Amino acid sequence: MKQRLGKRLLKVADFSSKYLADAESFVDMCCDHGHLGLFISESFSKRMYFVDPVKTIIEKLQDKISESEKSRITCLDIKGQNFTYTENLPVVAICGVGGDLIWEIVQSITHKNPHSSPIFVLAPQNRPVELREELNGQGFGVDQEGLVKDNGKYYEIMCVAEVFEKPLSLIGESAFDLNDNSHLSYLKKKREHYDFKSRKFPEFKKVVQMYDALLGKS
Ligand SMILES: C[S@@+](CC[C@H](N)C(=O)[O-])C[C@H]1O[C@@H](n2cnc3c(N)ncnc32)[C@H](O)[C@@H]1O
Repeated sequence: MKQRLGKRLLKVADFSSKYLADAESFVDMCCDHGHLGLFISESFSKRMYFVDPVKTIIEKLQDKISESEKSRITCLDIKGQNFTYTENLPVVAICGVGGDLIWEIVQSITHKNPHSSPIFVLAPQNRPVELREELNGQGFGVDQEGLVKDNGKYYEIMCVAEVFEKPLSLIGESAFDLNDNSHLSYLKKKREHYDFKSRKFPEFKKVVQMYDALLGKS
């Protein structure tokens, strides 16, 4: 049976598809049910990894993979911070966990696999601005970005890599459609959040100014 995805993971799969022709592997990091990787594996026939530290999750996934696919598809019950691989160009999707954990995993992967230039497709559950700040400081650039509403919640999705030349803006301007009222109300809420945060952490004042500049164009 074909794997079905909700709007958030469908957007992640859609963004990932741009890189899969050249990629040598796809990684469903923090995979849980593995829906994303299973969906991608229907059209991607190169190497795949499912990574999650919970043993029972990985055992269930292994049962879903046919014997003939087991040499191509590897399921690992490890933390993402310990993930190593041999390919030069993997696409690594990290979704459904917080921005701080995503940053930890991205950093570990880049340090532990210096032979490779991974493309990361990231959909943090929270702290997208703080995540972009860390990525920026480490020299990551951005390609595609988007905002998706799924089950009443908004998700910022970003495709980043050290090889991308376009600089990452802290607020992810290119993710937003200023003609879409739902995007405008999301941006206003984010502005309020960072305005509140900047009272304790003045370094976030620049983020508020960026939201003001973007909202001023609407
Ligand atoms: C909410 S699920 C996300 C599932 C799927 N990626 C999605 O977006 O729908 C979060 C998963 O992250 C896994 N996880 C937690 N810490 C992790 C880590 N350090 N490395 C890899 N996976 C981790 C959890 O075990 C859990 O299965």
